[in-house]
Amino acid sequence: MGHSVTPMRNLALELVRVTEAAALAAGRFMGRGDKVGADNAAVEAMRLVLNTVHMRGSVVIGEGEKDHAPMLYNGECVGAADGPEVDIAVDPIDGTRPLAMGNLNSISTVAIAPRGSMFFPGPFVYMDKLAVGPEAAGKVELGIPVAENLARVAKAKGDNVRDLTVIILDRPRHAELIAEVRRCGARIRLIPDGDVAGALMTAWPDSGIDVLMGVGGTPEGVLAACALRAMGGEIQGRLYARDNEEVRLGRDMGYDFHKTLDMGDLVASDDVFFAATAITEGELLRGVKYFGGGASTESLVVRGLTGTVRRIRATHRLAKLRRLGQGASSLPGV
Ligand code: FBP
Repeated sequence: MGHSVTPMRNLALELVRVTEAAALAAGRFMGRGDKVGADNAAVEAMRLVLNTVHMRGSVVIGEGEKDHAPMLYNGECVGAADGPEVDIAVDPIDGTRPLAMGNLNSISTVAIAPRGSMFFPGPFVYMDKLAVGPEAAGKVELGIPVAENLARVAKAKGDNVRDLTVIILDRPRHAELIAEVRRCGARIRLIPDGDVAGALMTAWPDSGIDVLMGVGGTPEGVLAACALRAMGGEIQGRLYARDNEEVRLGRDMGYDFHKTLDMGDLVASDDVFFAATAITEGELLRGVKYFGGGASTESLVVRGLTGTVRRIRATHRLAKLRRLGQGASSLPGV
């Protein structure tokens, strides 16, 4: 008989405060052309609130190696130092460029899972990804021809391939993938940035997105895995080497660029929580809006054990914004 595992208490609602804080701090930077300032503000606010959550967290997906990132670096311990031992993945801003340029679909995200369950990508920043929603989960395989995967998704959803929409990051490296999807007759949604939201959309009813394909960030892949695990979808990934130097480094460090990482590899537990708050206006969630007395946010929070998906609209008072706005304090109105 296997031993029973005590589930973590529902940290979801505490977690959403973390992404709300980051979004509120970062939202001030919309369209200001300052990616670094936005990132600093988001990281600072996120860390402030993460440290109030009752957990013993270790950052697995963070802002980079210790020497380069002063906060939320890989291996940093966060949380109020009591409660469950967890792995933490953060992306204080997914879509720094659209935020700085005043464009759509930039979000703040965080995920937690039991200690030791998240994939640690080391220095390898890119991953080839294939994500689908609940109907097609378990039916696709990264590495088989695109046409075959699309046929399987269409079959699972009772659609024709030409009715499917594939979301792909708009990058030159995807020229061949785009051509292949076109040959299959499926529709394509090209996004300038933000493939965590892209992956989420595959599992979001009425998003109009059926599949995510292509190479994006590895951290974003782990975050998407946490979200999709909770939403019943699936993502598979394979580390993508940019050059021979990375291939060699991978070999030395024991990473396999041919191995398909499945949901179990990316996050090996159902006891996972994921939260996202929109910073700029998005298709899934409304962006941060500021007004005289405060600001409003919209967030999504999901819990793996129960599959509960909550969409939370919140109004925040000005006093709180001031506490979170240190990184943005040079800006007017903060
Ligand atoms: P950041 O805003 O965190 O830099 O990420 C934006 C993003 O579009 C991710 O969503 C995506 O996974 C990654 O960048 C793709 O990387 P690149 O822009 O180098 O192709």
